[in-house]
Amino acid sequence: MKIHAPTLTFLRTSPALLLFAAAGLAYGAEGDAPAAAANPTVTVDASQIKGSSSPTLFGLMTEEINYSYDGGLYGELIANRAFKDSASEPVKWSTSAENGGTGAISLDKSQPLNDALDTSLKFEVNAAGAGQRAGLSNGGFWGIAVRPSSTYRASFYAKAAPGFNCRLTIALAGNDTPTNFATAEVPALSNEWKKYEVTLATGADVTPSKNNHFTLWAEGAGTIWLQNVSLFPPTYNDRPNGNRPDIMQLLAEYKPAFLRFPGGNYLEGNTLATRFNWKETIGDISQRPGHMDDAWRYRSSDGMGLLEFLEWCEDLKMQPLLAVYAGLALRNGGTIAAGPDLAPYVQDALDEIEYVTGDTSTKWGARRAQDGHPAPFALTYVEIGNEDWRDTYDGRFTQIYDAIKAKYPQLQLIDSSARSAPNGRVTTFAKARKADVYDCHLYTRSEQQSEARSTDYDTYDRAGPKIFEGEWATRVGAPTPNLAGAIGDAAYMTGLERNSDIVIMASYAPLFVNVSPGGMQWPTDLIGYDALNSYGSPAFYAQVMFNNNRGDQILMTSADNVGTRSWQAPAPRGGQAPPPQSVPALFEVATRDSKTGVIYLNLVNPLGTPQDVQVQIKGAASVASDGESVIMKGDSLSDTNSITEPIKIVPVTAKESGFGTSFVRTLAPYSINILKISAAR
Ligand code: AHR
Repeated sequence: MKIHAPTLTFLRTSPALLLFAAAGLAYGAEGDAPAAAANPTVTVDASQIKGSSSPTLFGLMTEEINYSYDGGLYGELIANRAFKDSASEPVKWSTSAENGGTGAISLDKSQPLNDALDTSLKFEVNAAGAGQRAGLSNGGFWGIAVRPSSTYRASFYAKAAPGFNCRLTIALAGNDTPTNFATAEVPALSNEWKKYEVTLATGADVTPSKNNHFTLWAEGAGTIWLQNVSLFPPTYNDRPNGNRPDIMQLLAEYKPAFLRFPGGNYLEGNTLATRFNWKETIGDISQRPGHMDDAWRYRSSDGMGLLEFLEWCEDLKMQPLLAVYAGLALRNGGTIAAGPDLAPYVQDALDEIEYVTGDTSTKWGARRAQDGHPAPFALTYVEIGNEDWRDTYDGRFTQIYDAIKAKYPQLQLIDSSARSAPNGRVTTFAKARKADVYDCHLYTRSEQQSEARSTDYDTYDRAGPKIFEGEWATRVGAPTPNLAGAIGDAAYMTGLERNSDIVIMASYAPLFVNVSPGGMQWPTDLIGYDALNSYGSPAFYAQVMFNNNRGDQILMTSADNVGTRSWQAPAPRGGQAPPPQSVPALFEVATRDSKTGVIYLNLVNPLGTPQDVQVQIKGAASVASDGESVIMKGDSLSDTNSITEPIKIVPVTAKESGFGTSFVRTLAPYSINILKISAAR
């Protein structure tokens, strides 16, 4: 019998031993030939509440990777709007010509808009007269999405050299057709820098497409300089400088409890200069210099800055989980020593917390109000650094921890140097102070590896710091996980949920990928998109299922007659492969909603064959026959979703009958099942 009783140490038995003890139940390496005589039995004891399930268990982790913001969630449609992506040429920009008009573009440092945006685009129109036009065009991030009945907001800063006296025409046009979807005009330009704004409205008959570009046309000769050329589509909640609605809607479906930002390696960068320097990410976008995201090898506009992260939280009712810079550069530059050298960065972290939480009488709270958000944001968790697996973390953590706790004693501080092991042990580099929460990351290479790790926290010390699984994923499938990844994730999530008295938060990573050629730096990302469309992976929907079907009480479960599969763990780098391991062929967790009495029984069948599972509900006065199920399944582990097949693998909700204190349920091959069972106490 496999007993899932995370808080009852006297019942604790090594899951591996338990599984080997289930003699004669091995399913073999492929797992498709169950040899068990009796059905697996899952028993839910409704009279035994093992603990409270964390209301914040499932959330999001985000950073600028795989074009997550620029070319992703952040609504901006113009690539390289500030002309800083290359120091030598105006990449992503090109010239266009009509009827013999010609123009040339170049980078020009002699006419800066300001200190932040100090390189302008010089546009020399060499010949343009009656009917002749010269234009400069931008194709966006692998295209520009054009949709019907939509209003786009274009804005730019411009300055004309004396003698340039013509109007500009702004156009949204298709690459393969001469048709303009929408146009707008700017009658004349000033000889001083000035901001120009126009709207472009598409007609109702426009077919959604992405193979489009933006052009700014000039009809007279002369020279102009441009900066911060921006184009926004309608955004989620109509926020200025806001987010793409389709991706936000997917996230809203998930109902994430929190957002961990701004990284990940993006928080740190390879050098001190390329860290996420939050003070340079606030205010009007024309004042943000952007920075090289060298951790992921492309430039970030920082249009998604600190306030935008917070507003993203506000829009989806997530709590912010703020990661502050802890003095670690990933490559050149190493770490900043604890002590006086670190002090300015500690102050930066305090200022950042004040920007998030301070009222308008504080310096940084007032700055937030000036930036457009007078109300402070509620903040509970602050993480110190990211994956800071260095001996020097101890000193840096202590200094930052002490400074934050002195000013904000109510904040829960997260140690980013923690690592979990299969035996429930967590190690950390922070020795002098004990964090409130440990952030452990787990990326696995196969579904079996995730399945094997699903018991990690069953034996974790309940008196220890709480656990935040701040990055985790079954890395199977690219660019987004396939059904195998989702099955591994679901098995792993049974462990997270079963231990959600102590595992208070978990966030899959990475969250996003632009699936256009060259958009991905890290394979296996939860949500994919191109310029026009987006989709959730099967792993995304597995999380939607778990998060939206979960009670507040964790119930004790046990499983008997569960078969096993033999799995060979990969060899550690430079080391020898460990002996083959047994992993179970069925995963379960049960929670109950204390208000409605509904029991959520999650069952994961990782096998390519059906499994008849005997379900027993103990400790309930009665169990209703009618209930509901939410099931996601597929024919093959490689089944997946994509831009062209966005909902091939999704959960299906159905009415059920035949539930009771004892019933048999056939789990489809490769399936994730949630049974909603009404039980009276
Ligand atoms: O999620 C991708 C990367 O994995 C994160 O940036 C980093 O924290 C981890 O190593």
